[in-house]
Amino acid sequence: MLRRNLLFCEPQGRGDAETRRHGDAGSIAASPRLRVPAPLLWGAGAGLLALLLGLTLAARGGLITVAIERPDGHWFWYFSRTAGVTAYLALALTVLWGLLASTAVGDGLVARARCVDLHRWLSAVGLALAAAHAILLVGDGYVQFDALDVLVPFVAPYRPVAVGLGVVAAYLALVVYGSLWLRGWLGQRGWRAVHFLSFPAFGLATLHGLLAGTDGGALWLRALYLLAAGLVLWLSCYRALSVLSAES
Ligand code: HEM
Repeated sequence: MLRRNLLFCEPQGRGDAETRRHGDAGSIAASPRLRVPAPLLWGAGAGLLALLLGLTLAARGGLITVAIERPDGHWFWYFSRTAGVTAYLALALTVLWGLLASTAVGDGLVARARCVDLHRWLSAVGLALAAAHAILLVGDGYVQFDALDVLVPFVAPYRPVAVGLGVVAAYLALVVYGSLWLRGWLGQRGWRAVHFLSFPAFGLATLHGLLAGTDGGALWLRALYLLAAGLVLWLSCYRALSVLSAES
C-alpha cells in the first residue's frame, strides 16, 4: 500500500492535503497569491490561440498580409536549439525525479516532503524552455516557421514528422502539467492515468531531438539521449517490479 501511494512522488498522507490545496477544478487557487478562476484562464488562453491560428490561416490563404521580421544571422536558430536541449534535460530530470522519488531511491537526496515541489518546478522549467525553443524558431530566417508550424503537429516545412513529434511531446507535457491543478476533478485514478502520459511525452521528445536536431548525430548529444532513456527505462522497470512484489 505504501508503494502505491509513492507511485507518483507523493508522500503518505499528503495526497488528500494536496487535493484540498490544488484540486478544486473551479479555480486554480494553488496559493493565496493566485486567485484567478480557472475557466477564465483557460478561456483566455484558448481565445488567444484561436486568434493566432485564425490570423495565420488568413495569412496563408492570402486574405491578410502579416510580415514577420526575421533578422539576418543564425542567432534565433542557435538560441532555439540551446533551449531545445535544455528543455530536454529538464523534461528528462522531471521524469527521473518522479521515478526516483516514487521508488524511494531518491530518499537520500532530498526530503520526501520537498519532492513534489521540486518535481513540479522542474516540469514548469521544462515547459517554459520548450515554449521558448518553439517560439524562437519563428524568428529564424532559415526554417521560416509561422504560428501554424509551431502549434499544429506535422505541418512544418522542415522535417515535418520529426518536428511534429516534438509538438505532440510538448502538448502531452502540458496536459500532464495542467492535470496538477485538476487533481480533485480528475480523481486519483484519472490523475494517475494522465500522469502516465509523461512517459510517451519523454519518449517522443527523445525521438524528436534525435531525428529533428542538427546535433542528433553528435556523440555528446547521443550519449545524453542514451543515458536519459536508459535511466528512465531502468527506473521504470525497478518501480514496476517493486509494485508487483508489494502486491504479491
Ligand atoms: C517537449 C518539447 C520539446 C523538446 C524537449 C524538444 C527538444 C529538442 C531537442 C533536444 C532538439 C535537438 C537540438 C539539436 O540537435 O541541436 C530539438 C530540435 C528541434 N525542435 Fe524541438 N523540442 C520540443 C518541442 C518542439 C516544438 C513544439 C517544436 C515546434 C516546431 C520544435 C521544433 C524543433 C526543430 C525545428 C528542431 C530542429 C533544430 C535543429 O536543427 O537542431 N520542438 N528539439
